[in-house]
Amino acid sequence: MKKTKPAPKKRGPVKSAKRLKVAFAASEAVPFIKTGGLADVAGALPKGLSAQGCDVVTVIPLYGAINREGLVKTDLEFYVNVGNRAYLTEVYKGKFDDATPVYLIHNRELFARPNPYGDENGDYPDNDRRFIFFNLAVLELLRLLKFRPDIMHVNDWHLGLVPVLLKNLSKGDFLRGVRSVLSIHSLAYQGLFPKESFELTGLPPELYSTDGVEMHGQLALLKSAILFSDGIAAVSPTYAKEILSPTLGFGLEKVLKKRKEVLTGFLNGVDMEEWNPEVDPLLPFNYSAKDLSGKAMCRAKLLKVAGLKNIKERPVVGIVSRLVGQKGFDMVVECADELMQLDLTLVVVGTGQKKFEDFFSELKIRRPDRVFCHIGYDDRLAHLIEAGSDVFLMPSVFEPCGLNQMYSMIYGTPPVVRATGGLKDSVQNWSPAKKTGTGFVFQDAQSPALLAAVKRAIKTFGKKKEWARLVINCMARDFSWRKSAADYKGFYKKIIAS
Ligand code: ADP
Ligand code: GLC
Repeated sequence: MKKTKPAPKKRGPVKSAKRLKVAFAASEAVPFIKTGGLADVAGALPKGLSAQGCDVVTVIPLYGAINREGLVKTDLEFYVNVGNRAYLTEVYKGKFDDATPVYLIHNRELFARPNPYGDENGDYPDNDRRFIFFNLAVLELLRLLKFRPDIMHVNDWHLGLVPVLLKNLSKGDFLRGVRSVLSIHSLAYQGLFPKESFELTGLPPELYSTDGVEMHGQLALLKSAILFSDGIAAVSPTYAKEILSPTLGFGLEKVLKKRKEVLTGFLNGVDMEEWNPEVDPLLPFNYSAKDLSGKAMCRAKLLKVAGLKNIKERPVVGIVSRLVGQKGFDMVVECADELMQLDLTLVVVGTGQKKFEDFFSELKIRRPDRVFCHIGYDDRLAHLIEAGSDVFLMPSVFEPCGLNQMYSMIYGTPPVVRATGGLKDSVQNWSPAKKTGTGFVFQDAQSPALLAAVKRAIKTFGKKKEWARLVINCMARDFSWRKSAADYKGFYKKIIAS
């Protein structure tokens, strides 16, 4: 049979796949300002989304502590009404990378302060006004930029009003109909303010109800976001389940159950430009799984900085943490004497509750031969501890995701963790029989369980071949943002389609 040439297909104009437009707002982001893991995520996920082909605009407040070098003051200036006051708003521009701009919103009276949320006297008393202002300013900025996102992605209570505001825009508003996604990094902080603060929002009075923004007689910002956002993502799959129970729902479990069909959980990723032992500029020596000699040198450096003896056989146990109850330090206090009888050295950097700061400071005085602690926030030391320790200790009572355990694995430092939230999702218990696993996981939030896990770690550390395998297992894990950013993009598409 004679072969006939297939007729050429008719081609219309080439359609390029529509790029998703995402506006991402958070109260802190690396490299501009950081008090915790939220900043690591807000500094990395937008880049991950850009790499996934999204057009992302990020917005954070311009706090007094942010270094303005490298930022450009834009000519955008506008007023935001909060209650009966109008606040002059200035906008600066920076970037995470060439594809990912960041806008920083400034008002001198509200943000030119040394810290983002409070000082030695506690939270700033006008945090309601500050963050209501920020929520309103984010939306106004998008209008002025003429950036109408397909998804408005907000984080934690600080941006809790945005989903409500989006659902209550007047007809014809440029942003009307924009869908929102809430990431829950922690339910422990809910943005609760007195009833009077509601007036600052400018929302219609009927919204101050149990079906709206009110909870137990207060304006409840995180609750509002849970009720009004179109999609909710907890920062790990396990945390997404845990928050439906009264223990970890912190009073919001019922509201979350109502939104169960739009609730999911994605494990955070790691910014491999910031946390990668092969290139980390904050480390005195770099290394990789192929050549760990740099890790041994980091260990020596860490012990030197700490003023501790470098004994090869004695494992260095590192802690980098906010020193708060959530992180399981009550258990550490409880078993401190037994812990100190073990053949280990403890190296700690952290700040937080006074009782834990005092505990570690006193432990250092009691056991100067075995313990080093630095009470404070020190990025360089944090990186050195991740790299120079043998074991990383993170015994959290609850942990929505946790980043340090992932950093420690990437740095070849197997973690001891409790099976909760993102710790459970990211650390696999070491099995000596199968030679699988990346750390030491314990179940009960009780000090004997913690102690037993530390003992297992020390025992395994003594078996050089097993330990080497464990370290390799850790370093082989891929914690980059690629997967999570793709998951978020898929989630956005589902929400847009629904
Ligand atoms: P959380 O956000 O609950 O504090 P994460 O593990 O998600 O916990 O993130 C904590 C982040 O803060 C990590 O990047 C960690 O390295 C950093 N960090 C915490 N405490 C300190 C400290 N004292 N000095 C330097 N970095 C710290
Ligand atoms: C919160 C959580 C922590 C999480 C971080 C980033 O601070 O306590 O577990 O890793 O947010 O999502």
